[in-house]
Amino acid sequence: MANIALNFEDGVTRILEGLPYETVADTAYRLGINIPLDCADGACGTCKCHVKSGQFDPGDFIEDALTDEEFEQGYALACQTIPESDMIIEVLASSAVCKVEIEAFQATIEKLEFPSQEIVKLTVKTADSKIIDFLPGQYVNIEIPGMDTSRSYSFCNAPGTDELVFIIRLVPGGLMSTYLSEKAQIGDTLELTGPLGSFYLREITRPTLFFAGGTGIAPFISMLQKLEAENNTQPITLFYGATTEENLVELDQLHVYTSSLNFDVKVCVSSQDEASVPKGYVTQWINKETLTEAQYDLYLCGPPAMVEAIKTSLSDSQIQYDGFHMEKFIPTGNEAASTV
Ligand code: FES
Repeated sequence: MANIALNFEDGVTRILEGLPYETVADTAYRLGINIPLDCADGACGTCKCHVKSGQFDPGDFIEDALTDEEFEQGYALACQTIPESDMIIEVLASSAVCKVEIEAFQATIEKLEFPSQEIVKLTVKTADSKIIDFLPGQYVNIEIPGMDTSRSYSFCNAPGTDELVFIIRLVPGGLMSTYLSEKAQIGDTLELTGPLGSFYLREITRPTLFFAGGTGIAPFISMLQKLEAENNTQPITLFYGATTEENLVELDQLHVYTSSLNFDVKVCVSSQDEASVPKGYVTQWINKETLTEAQYDLYLCGPPAMVEAIKTSLSDSQIQYDGFHMEKFIPTGNEAASTV
């Protein structure tokens, strides 16, 4: 049986378990998700969707419904597509149109660690040991206890578990920051909704570059865990920058992947006071001397200034890339929220 991840236009994702020989549309409707559908016969094109990864039988259809060119570009018809492996599919409609309810669930705080003065590592356990599936790189919204507002944080763990980890930047005066640093207790219940987001790991089929700024490291750890589980052999390099050495977190974990994957990590800090870590910004590695492959896939996660600087450096240095995926931290009030 194949798992089908449906990613909707608004970033909501649902992961469905297909039955043998069942079309994607049949799976969706069996599970109450009304993706666009009309003829259900490969004739109208209403159910057109974009396949991001996975093997499948495209079924029968006419040119009016799906052209050869569209098929070459990765489009398929959900009413005809029969998965032959796990798939990620972008639905060309919002979750609301498809009547998808955003999943809400509870979790209790299991661990609160402070790897630096500016960062908290939050570990929670879901109620009733509910298993949470998502695409590595996605995030959830966590409600600030006692307030009718939430913040968005990327998963820092592999999918398919009841223990979720988040790396969160503490912002002076921020609502979630104040809660986590001053009030939160082990055993507190949190309300979460998700998974959400269009920043997620695609199939890695060529050399790939990850650029992480600050707590933007979290989604990459999730991705690396997934790649390790898949025994991926493509060369992957992570460029990871932070303000200070103390704010470079999870380095021990990252070094584990240098043995288990075809993986390298380069770190730097912007502070001039540090003695033992290379100084500067991750853009220092964007040049043809360092990046010698003909083409890359790129993933970026960090503050807007970092993302813009990387885009400019890529363009200036004429590094060739195909897939380009990014997530910027957008300030929300006094907090940093990770949204696309
Ligand atoms: S619903 Fe008409 S082609 Fe799929």
